[in-house]
Amino acid sequence: MSSLLHLRLPPASVLASLCLLGLGAVYGQQVGTEMPEIHPILTTQQCSAPGVCTARQSSVTLDSNWRPLHSVSSPTSCFNCNSWDSTLCPDPATCASNCGLDGVDYAGSYGITSNGSSLALQFVTGCNVGSRVFLMSSSSQYQIFTLLNQEFTFTVDMSHLECGVNAGLYLLEMDADGGRAKFPTNKAGANYGTGYCDAQCGQDAKFTNGIANVLDWTPSPTDPVSGTGLFGSCCNSIDVWQGNMHSAAYSAHPCSVAGQTQCSGAQCDNSLCDADGCDFNPWRMGNTSFLGPGKVVDTTIPLTVVTQFITNTNTATGTLTEIRRLYVQNGKVIQNANVNLPGIPASLNSITDNFCAAQKTAVGDPDRFEALGGLATMSAALKKGMVLALSIRDDYTNDLLWLDGNFPPTALPTAPGVSRGPCSASSGNPEVIEDSQANDFVVFSNIKWGPIGSTFS
Ligand SMILES: *[C@@H]1O[C@H](CO)[C@@H](O)[C@H](O)[C@H]1NC(C)=O
Ligand SMILES: *[C@@H]1O[C@H](CO)[C@@H](O)[C@H](O)[C@H]1NC(C)=O
Repeated sequence: MSSLLHLRLPPASVLASLCLLGLGAVYGQQVGTEMPEIHPILTTQQCSAPGVCTARQSSVTLDSNWRPLHSVSSPTSCFNCNSWDSTLCPDPATCASNCGLDGVDYAGSYGITSNGSSLALQFVTGCNVGSRVFLMSSSSQYQIFTLLNQEFTFTVDMSHLECGVNAGLYLLEMDADGGRAKFPTNKAGANYGTGYCDAQCGQDAKFTNGIANVLDWTPSPTDPVSGTGLFGSCCNSIDVWQGNMHSAAYSAHPCSVAGQTQCSGAQCDNSLCDADGCDFNPWRMGNTSFLGPGKVVDTTIPLTVVTQFITNTNTATGTLTEIRRLYVQNGKVIQNANVNLPGIPASLNSITDNFCAAQKTAVGDPDRFEALGGLATMSAALKKGMVLALSIRDDYTNDLLWLDGNFPPTALPTAPGVSRGPCSASSGNPEVIEDSQANDFVVFSNIKWGPIGSTFS
C-alpha cells in the first residue's frame, strides 16, 4: 500500500429496498438549521497563455463528513464523534430525513482561514481531526477541472508539517453538484460538501448516495472520531500532492467504474479501484537528497508545484500519456528528480505507464494500475472533469509511514521501495501527534491552471 486513505462514501441497492418498504415520501439528507453556511472566499487564476491569467473569486466548502449533523427539528445531534443516535437514525432513509448538515464556523471550529489567494488548514484535533475542503465555482457547484493537455499549479508551505501529518491536494471524479440531482434524497448538495469519493472506496462516509451509512456501522477500534458502515464510495482519483516537510508523492488511482460509484461491504476492498495507485515519491525512487528541509526542493519555505497532464497528440482530444512534475522555488524551475532504483530506467522522472510497470516490478508491488487501464483510464476522468479537494490529516491505519517512513513497517528497510522518507516507525502515531502537533498547519496558495507553460515562469 503506497497510498492513503482519504475518506469514503455509498449505494443504490439500498434505495431500491427502501422503496420496497414504502418509504418513498419525504426523506433526504437535509440542510440543517443550526448555523448558516458561509464559504471562505479563495482567489484562483485561470490562465490562457504565459502571464495571461484571469482571477476568479472562487470559494471552498467543508466536506460534509466533517460537519455537525443535527435533528432538523431539535438541537439533538444525530452523530456523536463516532456513533449514530439510534432514535434519529434507526435506518438509512429515516436518518437522512431526520438529520441536517449544518453550516460551520470555519476559522473557529476547523482552523480553516483564507486570505486572497491563500488557504490555511490547521491540524485541528478533538471531535474532528484535520479537515477537507472542495473548491467551488458557485454556491451549488464544485469547480470542475478538465486538465488534458493542461497544467495545474499551486504553492504550498509545509514548513509547519511534521512527520505523521499530511497535506493533500487531489482531483476526484465527483459529481459537480455533490450528487444532488442523481440522488434526490440529498437535499444538501455541493454547498454542504456532499458526494465525496476516491479510489480508496472508504466506508467511513456518514452519507452516500443520499442516505445515511448506518447499516453495519462500527466505530473504529482505534480512531475515536471515525467508524465504517456497509457502504463506500469509489471513483478515479489523482493525488496531485501528498506531503509534509519530510516527504512528498503524487499518484494516479484508476477504477473500473466511471464517476462516483457506491460499493458495498467486501466489494469496497481494492476491487473496483486501485487503492495503491502508481506513485512517484522522489525519496522512495532513490533520491533522498531531493526534497526536504534545506534540500534541492527546500520544504522550510513555500514551494510551487507544477503538474502537467501531457497527451499523445499534445491536444485536449488526445489520451493522457504522462503526468509530469516540476517545481519552482526562488524563481528557479527545478525538474523532478530522476529515478535512482535498480530495475527502473534512470532516465524516468514522471508517471507514465512504462514507469508504473517498471516500478511495480522493481519494488514487488501487485500491479492493479495496469489491470485497471493505467493512464488511459485517468485520461477519461480528466476529460470528463474532476473536483479539487484540499486536506490536512493524520493516518490511523498506517501512521502515514507509506509517505514519510519505512513501509510496510515489517519489511527490510533496504529492500527497494520500502524507505519512503526519514520519519521513524513511531513518528506518526495519531494519539501522540494529535496532542504534540496540534499546531501543525499547511498553507496552499496561488492555485492556477491553463495550457502547458502558462501558469509559471
Ligand atoms: C492577508 O494578506 C495580506 C497580503 O499578504 C496581508 O497583508 C494581511 O495581513 C493578511 N490578512 C490576514 C487577516 O491574514
Ligand atoms: C537527486 O536529485 C538532484 C536534483 O535532480 C541531483 O542533483 C542528485 O544527483 C540526485 N541524487 C541522486 C542520488 O540521484
